[in-house]
Amino acid sequence: MTDLIEGYREELTAIRRDIHRHPELAYEETRTSDIVAEQLQSYGIEIQRGLAKTGVVGTLKAGTANKSIALRADMDALPIQESNDFGHKSVHDMKMHACGHDGHTTMLLGAAKYLSATREFDGIVHFIFQPAEEGAGGARVMIEEGLFDKFTIAAVYGMHNWPLLGVGKFAMRSGPIMAAADTFDIVVTGKGTHAAMPHTGIDPVPIGAEIVSALQTLVSRTTDPLDSAVLSVTQFQAGDAYNVIPETATLRGGVRTLREDTRQAMEAAMERIVSGICEAHGARYDFTYTRGYPPTVNAEEETANAAAAAADVVGKENVQTDIAPVMGSEDFSYMLEKKPGSYIFIGNGDGEGSCMVHNPGYDFNDEVLTIGARYWSRLVETQLPK
Ligand code: NI
Repeated sequence: MTDLIEGYREELTAIRRDIHRHPELAYEETRTSDIVAEQLQSYGIEIQRGLAKTGVVGTLKAGTANKSIALRADMDALPIQESNDFGHKSVHDMKMHACGHDGHTTMLLGAAKYLSATREFDGIVHFIFQPAEEGAGGARVMIEEGLFDKFTIAAVYGMHNWPLLGVGKFAMRSGPIMAAADTFDIVVTGKGTHAAMPHTGIDPVPIGAEIVSALQTLVSRTTDPLDSAVLSVTQFQAGDAYNVIPETATLRGGVRTLREDTRQAMEAAMERIVSGICEAHGARYDFTYTRGYPPTVNAEEETANAAAAAADVVGKENVQTDIAPVMGSEDFSYMLEKKPGSYIFIGNGDGEGSCMVHNPGYDFNDEVLTIGARYWSRLVETQLPK
């Protein structure tokens, strides 16, 4: 396997850099989707297009078994102005592959090419290329449009590059690996009046300030210290003048949790605090809690499968299986709500010049392309054994 896939290095690097030069935002990945479809067809893989607009699913069968697994890559870029100055720099202003989805797409293409050429497995593998991971929930939309009805899938696997991890290393954990990302809007309505006569109104500013303070107790006092949660009030807007007590104060922010029960408890407790404080001061309120991506929760068995496949590629000593969860979020979580599976990290390099994803100077590390393609291929050969 190693020799064959290493032989694809130049070709994969060219595909990855081409996608990097032409980044496309959520649901606009038409050029990328065309490249993926053409490549898959050139490998002799059957494709289905159109799920979530630009999604592509490639299906490859070998042998006679009906067991089926799915491997997923995301294709979208971010609205960031690229600051790099190399040949494959983005040609589009304010669009950039700053999260390495160009690399994710290419690694999965590499595996598809190898698996189709060798067919050293018995069963069915679906290659899922999804749009709109960055905030717009392409995974959810693919599911709503029938991903798991059209295709019978026993388990689903995902992978993301990780800049803090060296090249040739993998990291994962069973259970929650990434957080739910929710947002909230609180509008406190008091009674506006002249700032020199506060007793004739109800001032929403100190009420909002009390709410900000009280919300801080939800993580420190009501969440299990061995669980994790983040609650940040990131906006507090009220008033336009020096001498006017405003009618309303608006607070907004975000909540991150790793467990569904913690998430529900947080939402309920927030409303209790807002309601209680407003009631105490005779103000009214509107509280809106908006659920974003759910927590990404890895299944135990599939995570062990992923760890074993990764160890076959890079050696057991280069596979960490007990990393701490990351409080970022990921829409692969929607797939893991429906199917058992595992989402893992592949090292993108932690040396000089490497930087975090979502940074304008980021670039996917091409050295990683064949390592990722080998991981995917090994996973299929071990999960769908001949
Ligand atoms: Ni990403």
